[in-house]
Amino acid sequence: MPSMPLTVPLDSSSTAPGRRAGTAAVHAAPDQGADSTAHDALPDDELLLHDLHPAKDDMRGDILDGLTSSPKTLPCKYFYDERGSALFDEICELDEYYPTRTETAILVKHADDMASRLGENALLIELGSGSSTKTPLLLGALREAAGYVPIDISKEHLMSASHRIRATFPQLAVRPVCADFTAPLDLPDFGLAASRRYVFFPGSTMGNFGPAGQRKLLHQIVSLCGPEGGGLLIGLDLLKDRDTLEAAYNDGGGVTAAFNMNLLERVNRELGGDFSIEHFEHHAPFNADEERIEMHLVSTFEQTAQIGEDIVHFEAGERICTEHSYKFSVDAFTRLAGEVGLRQRAVWTDDDGLFAVMLFETSSPSTA
Ligand SMILES: C[S@@+](CC[C@H](N)C(=O)[O-])C[C@H]1O[C@@H](n2cnc3c(N)ncnc32)[C@H](O)[C@@H]1O
Repeated sequence: MPSMPLTVPLDSSSTAPGRRAGTAAVHAAPDQGADSTAHDALPDDELLLHDLHPAKDDMRGDILDGLTSSPKTLPCKYFYDERGSALFDEICELDEYYPTRTETAILVKHADDMASRLGENALLIELGSGSSTKTPLLLGALREAAGYVPIDISKEHLMSASHRIRATFPQLAVRPVCADFTAPLDLPDFGLAASRRYVFFPGSTMGNFGPAGQRKLLHQIVSLCGPEGGGLLIGLDLLKDRDTLEAAYNDGGGVTAAFNMNLLERVNRELGGDFSIEHFEHHAPFNADEERIEMHLVSTFEQTAQIGEDIVHFEAGERICTEHSYKFSVDAFTRLAGEVGLRQRAVWTDDDGLFAVMLFETSSPSTA
């Protein structure tokens, strides 16, 4: 699971005194009322959507492909229907689930340092921005950001988050892009005079991709930075002891189990399936060799399930893999990023070394 954002109030302490508002710095948190620059806000219709029309999901085809392959899989992108998203919000609040609160605390503590390294006039591009809940921490500290480009496959999510960001940062140019970030992605010029482009990729979403997918995504990130250069600010869940990792994905209250099981319930609800949920168990072991948590649904005995006209057979103990969540070491990710020319500039972690936010920069034309 990527770490979904908690609601993060803007922290006025993350804005250095005397810093010019530019796009964001003097804007009050939403519950503090509009600040004196709000009258300069651009009209709402300037929130221009750039829609690359990502391919529509073929849920039935994807589910049947996964359940007839060996080993069986279900695509993790189907976790997030309304119930799945609500369950994920609950997971983020669990004692055992440390990633979201740890990453948020790192951003709260170090946003000023991060922002000063990104410099003035940076264009911030967020991949899989979702509800953009962590982003205000960074935008609130940036000097004169050239703009914010949230990219998400879910248009509805993207637009409501973009409106919230615009309401909080009325002078900020927000240019939402509806796209699949794993597909080739050419951003338009946007007409924003940016010194450099930085990709913000929080939530350890990178961990949902295997090594080949991670490399591909890093290439994509470098190309998003463009010829002027820029970099990557990324949140990564770090390798740690098995107990802490497994507890985070196997909470005592069974919320993660319900989240995982919701995939089968979705198949029942939306595709005419007849899965008996009580005949499957949630397992999420840490595979130390592969350095990843593997979420599974395990058939507790030999059974069949029907999806519309189609019948799927399960052996006793057979697993459906629903998600991999890779964990990282700072050194290994630094080496991987180095392969595509991204050079590590800074690493911020919590005191227990659970999570890291890392800054990389592309080789600028002058240093290449
Ligand atoms: C769990 S949320 C993470 C939100 C945010 N990055 C954070 O950490 O606060 C993952 C988001 O990524 C989006 N997403 C997943 N796969 C995507 C893809 N291939 N292209 C674009 N967006 C994607 C989902 O729609 C969802 O909004």
